Amino acid sequence: VLAIWHQLIKTEIPELSKCSVLMRERGRVEETIYAMQRAGAGNLQVISDFDMTLTRFAHNGKRVPTTHNILDNRLLINEDCTKKMRELMNTYYPIEIDASRSVEEKLPLMVEWWTKVHELLIQQRIRKDMLSQAVKESSAMLRDGYKVFFDRLAENQVPLLIFSAGVGDVLEEVIRQNRVFHPNVHIISNYMDFDHTGILQAFKGQLIHTFNKREGALSHAACLRELQGRPNVLLLGDSLGDLTMADGVSEPQNILTIGFLNDQVEERKELYVNSFDIVLVKDETMDVPNAILGHIT
Ligand code: TMP
Ligand code: MG
Repeated sequence: VLAIWHQLIKTEIPELSKCSVLMRERGRVEETIYAMQRAGAGNLQVISDFDMTLTRFAHNGKRVPTTHNILDNRLLINEDCTKKMRELMNTYYPIEIDASRSVEEKLPLMVEWWTKVHELLIQQRIRKDMLSQAVKESSAMLRDGYKVFFDRLAENQVPLLIFSAGVGDVLEEVIRQNRVFHPNVHIISNYMDFDHTGILQAFKGQLIHTFNKREGALSHAACLRELQGRPNVLLLGDSLGDLTMADGVSEPQNILTIGFLNDQVEERKELYVNSFDIVLVKDETMDVPNAILGHIT
C-alpha cells in the first residue's frame, strides 16, 4: 500500500520532485501530508514567518526589503538614520545567519540589534499616517503564488498565523495593499505605539527577534482562540528560529515544517535539511506550500 501511495503522491505533488526541494526523509513528509489530508482542513492551521518567507528574498538580482527596511524612506526617517540602520544591518545580519555560531551566542546580539534599531526609529518621530505611502513607494514583494496561498486558506477557513520579528504595522500594510488581509489572518509581531498625535513613541509589548519566537508563541497561545483545536500545523520559515513558532500549539498531532534557504546556501544546507522537513533552496515561489495545501484542503 505504501509503495502505491508513494507512486500516487509523486504524480500528485510533482512540485516535491523539483531539484530545489531537499528532504531528509521523503517518506515521513509524504505520510504527514497523507495524515493531514485525512484529518482535513478543519484540523489544520498554518503558522508562517513574514520577512523572506512570505516576502521574496530577491527580485531581478536586488534584495527585497524587509519590513524594517521598508521604513527606509525620507517620508519617515532621515539620512543619518538610514546610514546607522545600514551599519547595524551589516554588522548583525551576518551574525544572524552564521552557521558556525550557536543560538545561545546569537541571542544577546539579536536583542542588541533590534533594541538599537527601535531606539533609532523612535528618535525619528515617525508619523503613522505616512506608513501606507512608504509601503506604496517601496519594492516590497510577496512570493510568486502568494494570492493562491492566502485566498485558499481564507476560502477553507484555515487560520493563518503570521509570526514576525519585523514591524507589525508595516507587515499589515503590505498584505492590505496586496489585497490578502483576509479575516482568517492573525498576526504576532512588533507593533508601533503612537502618541495621540500619531507620532511613534515606543514599541508595544515584549520585543520579538529571530530567536525568541518560542516565548512569543507561548505567551500568545491563550488569546488565539481560533487556532485551538487544530492539531495539524504547516509551518513556514526562513530562519532556524522560526521552528519554535508552533511551540504554543497544545497537543499537536502532525507538524510539517518548510524552510526557505535563501542565503549562505552551501554553508547552511546540511543544518537546514536536518532541521526542516522540507527545504526549498533559492525558491522565490509559494509553489510547494500551495501544492501541499492543495492536497490537504
Ligand atoms: P521576520 O521574523 O518576519 O523574518 O523578521 C525578521 C527579519 O528582519 C530578520 O531576518 C532580520 C530582519 N531585520 C532587518 O532587515 N532590519 C532590521 O533593522 C532588523 C532589526 C531586522
Ligand atoms: Mg524571516
